[in-house]
Amino acid sequence: MSNAEDHAGTRRDFLYYATAGTGAVAVGAAVWPLVNQMNPSADVLALSSIRVDVGDLAPGSQMTVKWLGKPVFIRRRTEEEIAEAQAVDLADLPDNDARNENLPSGVDGDDGNRFLPPPAGSEDAVAGEWLVMMGVCTHLGCVPLGDAGDFGGWFCPCHGSHYDTSGRIRKGPAPTNLPVPPAEFVDETTIKLG
Ligand code: FES
Repeated sequence: MSNAEDHAGTRRDFLYYATAGTGAVAVGAAVWPLVNQMNPSADVLALSSIRVDVGDLAPGSQMTVKWLGKPVFIRRRTEEEIAEAQAVDLADLPDNDARNENLPSGVDGDDGNRFLPPPAGSEDAVAGEWLVMMGVCTHLGCVPLGDAGDFGGWFCPCHGSHYDTSGRIRKGPAPTNLPVPPAEFVDETTIKLG
């Protein structure tokens, strides 16, 4: 091997190691923020569960709150809305699944599997009046409008999905019902989400 070849080989080796070294550093730098992002900050942990005062919500009205960065609809349904939701034949549901995180997966889409049970000990509560759902259309994520659509529930104006008074998809491109997040009454007028 000539001196020139020896020199070239050494230089190649040096370049190879230098490149490998840089690559390792670059990968390390890319992975760290990702791992760091996967540890929720104290703020996020604090917000993973929120309490909402629903004491002022009249029958037939709803409020939208933000939970984990997404809108959640809390509706106090009228007796007519409840009756309408409960009269639906399950065979007419495009998605006959409750989509309710508070129940075992796979239960059917009956309205009784969708609404939030009333606060413990409230004898005068109307069964089924509270409906809590993610306010995100299951098609491509727009926020549906309340008191709208062909089924008297919610209507997504983006591509025309109609949800009924139980938040179940009835017509349009959305594939599934609006999901029911983990929720419960913790006292007479407070709902805990998460
Ligand atoms: S995002 Fe709602 S219908 Fe497309």
